[in-house]
Amino acid sequence: MIRVGITGGGGLVGSMIVEILKADENFDVHLILEQQMDITNRESVFNTLKNLNFDVFLHLAAYTNVDKAEIEKEKVWKINVEGTRNVFDAVNSLNKNFIYISTDFVFDGKKQKTPFFEDSNPNPISYYGSTKYEGEKIVNGNGTIIRLSYPYRTKFGNKPDIVRNIKLLLEQGKTLSMVTDSLIVPTFIDDIAYALREFLLSKNFKPEIFHIVGSQVLSPYECGKIIARAFGLDDSLIKATTYEEYFKGKAKRPQFSDIKSRNNNFYKMNGFEETISKFKDEFG
Ligand SMILES: NC(=O)c1ccc[n+]([C@@H]2O[C@H](COP(=O)([O-])OP(=O)(O)OC[C@H]3O[C@@H](n4cnc5c(N)ncnc54)[C@H](OP(=O)(O)O)[C@@H]3O)[C@@H](O)[C@H]2O)c1
Repeated sequence: MIRVGITGGGGLVGSMIVEILKADENFDVHLILEQQMDITNRESVFNTLKNLNFDVFLHLAAYTNVDKAEIEKEKVWKINVEGTRNVFDAVNSLNKNFIYISTDFVFDGKKQKTPFFEDSNPNPISYYGSTKYEGEKIVNGNGTIIRLSYPYRTKFGNKPDIVRNIKLLLEQGKTLSMVTDSLIVPTFIDDIAYALREFLLSKNFKPEIFHIVGSQVLSPYECGKIIARAFGLDDSLIKATTYEEYFKGKAKRPQFSDIKSRNNNFYKMNGFEETISKFKDEFG
């Protein structure tokens, strides 16, 4: 039995991880929600974790709104950097394993000859990305870092992901401008959860970085077209735009976020198109 503690377990990604691990008899999952433990309160974090029976801790809690992060910088720093330091220090003081969930937004996404692998140099271009990278620096060498990229799932009411956003707007008959000169790697959250499950079962908690990301790289425009076709929606509503035009006045996202893994040899990740068509009847 592997005892797992988790922050951010009520969120878009975390709640699926909790669902999948809880259904598995190999795991005993302890979900710690914000109302039980505010990660920015160091004393509360140390007290809560001292009384928690766990072997490994998954830290997902974060301030995740990339645009608002440019305005609420103090709050973002408190949660993503100080909060991560609090949880990491508390876990470390108990000699337990720590897994930090990070993002492809630690990279600048400048065009380069090779994809961004685990050992590529981070160079964040947004405030959110820079605080997630600060979090990585706290953990680096003493815990596992898992980077995710554009996670989406079939159903989740609280926070729309890339698929739900596009699907909803198309269903409302809205015209969408989608970027053609950019690359992203959407990642099915079920795959993230199953990959984590394999990683945890291996009990090989190396202080390494892993990219747990989908297997298909494509432009947001191509993503939109795939969604429209899969759900029988009008794909002529999707108009092409450029990265420069689309992100005017918004927080910068990595333009060519072609992220791949050399270290994930424990779970085969699916591509976007195959996942959407395979599970299309399950999307809410
Ligand atoms: N979504 C993405 O596009 C994306 C991409 C790459 C990486 N990631 C990373 O993946 C992780 C999960 O992302 P997500 O999209 O699932 O996030 P989310 O839905 O926004 O959920 C974040 C969670 O963080 C918790 N939280 C926030 N402030 C807290 C505080 N002060 N104390 C305790 N808990 C706090 C909240 O917990 P409660 O539910 O208890 O309120 C919330 O559920 C994050 O670390 C994020 O950086 C996300």
